[in-house]
Amino acid sequence: MSQILTIDDLKNQARRRVPKMFFDYADSGSWTESTYRANEEDFSKIKFRQRVLVDMDNRSLASTMIGETVAMPVALAPTGSTGMQHADGEMLAAQAAEEFGVPFTLSTMSICSIEDVAKVTKKPFWFQLYVMRDRDFVYNLIDRAKAAKCSALVLTVDLQMLAQRHKDLRNGLSAPPKMTPKTLFDIGRRPRWWMGMLGTPRRSFGNIVGHAKGVTDLASLSSWTAEQFDQSLSWDDVAWIKERWGGKLILKGILDKEDAIMAAKTGADALIVSNHGGRQLDGARSSISVLPEIVEAVGDKIEVHFDGGIRSGQDVLKALCLGAKGTYIGRPFLYGLGAMGKPGVTKTLEIIHKELDMTLALCGKRDITTVGKDMLCI
Ligand SMILES: Cc1cc2nc3c(=O)[nH]c(=O)nc-3n(C[C@H](O)[C@H](O)[C@H](O)COP(=O)(O)O)c2cc1C
Repeated sequence: MSQILTIDDLKNQARRRVPKMFFDYADSGSWTESTYRANEEDFSKIKFRQRVLVDMDNRSLASTMIGETVAMPVALAPTGSTGMQHADGEMLAAQAAEEFGVPFTLSTMSICSIEDVAKVTKKPFWFQLYVMRDRDFVYNLIDRAKAAKCSALVLTVDLQMLAQRHKDLRNGLSAPPKMTPKTLFDIGRRPRWWMGMLGTPRRSFGNIVGHAKGVTDLASLSSWTAEQFDQSLSWDDVAWIKERWGGKLILKGILDKEDAIMAAKTGADALIVSNHGGRQLDGARSSISVLPEIVEAVGDKIEVHFDGGIRSGQDVLKALCLGAKGTYIGRPFLYGLGAMGKPGVTKTLEIIHKELDMTLALCGKRDITTVGKDMLCI
């Protein structure tokens, strides 16, 4: 553990401990993966201004996201099949986030259900909604999130259809994995992973199986999900979702100024500048390159959050300097989880916290809520 210093160290360890099918599922983007790469690469083009001889004592990373106090403005992004990176992954990640004091967002496509996560946490978590054609299922999902006292609904707006990821097709991705000689060989070399999996009953999509009509097993589940993402979803639907939910609403997946203006008009509490971690429109711009123009267009009307490509505390600070009020990490916490379970997620958060704190200080600032563009060379 003492040799784990960076998110990349966690990634390398996860690569050794998680079966290839699921490691690749996290470490992939759609088609040529150009947007996935751009998300990370464009961060490195942004440079800080080094400031010296400034009193750096008594620093604070505490802030708020949609009115909730956070230990640092970094939430865990919703990620599907997290319980396949490590047994009971969503429950463990939610606990790690709660203990650290940052929000956890549970995906609709999670392995552990809303109720599973509610049972092992004390504070409210956030729930991410995919809108399916089966509206009764969606109504019920919103009601279940309310019953579990989730404090925000994150509506994902950039996935009316699933873009193609070549690695997933080549690996024959499924949850739980199909037992071909190739997967058996791969899993056999990862005893920590399979022993964990044998020890949990949670190996399929917990929010769906037993809740969606006609979905009782893996075969019915895969045909259901393939046809269920609602391609007719439009801006008009946001109104009924907002009304049915009745609480804090975050729109996730905005990458264009005009869409940001539409998002602000819905009355949502926040939007997330995001290209789904480069997993949807390959060839779209990186999230960080779009952030400044969205902040300029709607920053005074709606809280602007950010995700995509964050691999360090320096990246978090760059996004905050460019106007994001909060950020999210996807792969960094999945790597931590795959590497070491709950302590690995805590490690991810510790690494990012430490880097963020030191970078803030070396830029001559003490309070994360006062950062701005003037700290960057732009
Ligand atoms: C393995 C994986 C699964 C994901 N599943 C979902 C999901 O179920 N719902 C969703 O809104 N976004 C999903 N995302 C996108 C993340 O919420 C987030 O936008 C993205 O991971 C941010 O980029 P980063 O991984 O570079 O931090 C997923 C991302 C990954 C890597």
